[in-house]
Amino acid sequence: MEENQFKPMSLHSPNTPSKKKFHILFVCLGNICRSPTGEAVLKKIALENNLTDYFHIESAGTGNYHIGERPDPRTRRHGEKRGLQFESLAQQFNPDLHFHLFDYILCMDHNNLQQVQKLDSQQKYHAKVIPIMSFAPESGYQIVPDPYTGGPQDFELVIDLLETACLQFFQQIKMQI
Ligand code: 4NP
Repeated sequence: MEENQFKPMSLHSPNTPSKKKFHILFVCLGNICRSPTGEAVLKKIALENNLTDYFHIESAGTGNYHIGERPDPRTRRHGEKRGLQFESLAQQFNPDLHFHLFDYILCMDHNNLQQVQKLDSQQKYHAKVIPIMSFAPESGYQIVPDPYTGGPQDFELVIDLLETACLQFFQQIKMQI
């Protein structure tokens, strides 16, 4: 049977796409302060752990005020000082697209959570919609407070809380890889 050299491709062949990607969407109100910070923090953690291939990470806002804008300059200034990179432009949460595309929809506060849940009228996706701070119960914070009308310490707090919660979220996800 020398002419028949064909071997069926193993399931573990390097040509077989075997990596499951986790699709994660951070959500806040404007998508210029908290959710882009969550996106940047989780991307940094994935990069530091050499696991970027396993993650697709985006962010969105429930409001439409800032669509197409870069993150707030204060978010960028505080974040970049702490090693975060901001690449994406603001988008509004789109129920027709995002419920289906993302495995985890991580909300910053109760208002964001309710707005997203309202768009899921049949509660088909309710298990995906989770407050990000539920991953850091020991922090004492149930929400990431809105820093938009606040000062520098409010932007630092956003980063502190998201670093803590995203690391614990990442550790849970990593166990599924
Ligand atoms: P974010 O902050 O929801 O963390 O992006 C805000 C940004 C903009 C506004 C409110 C909150 N705004 O009212 O324009």
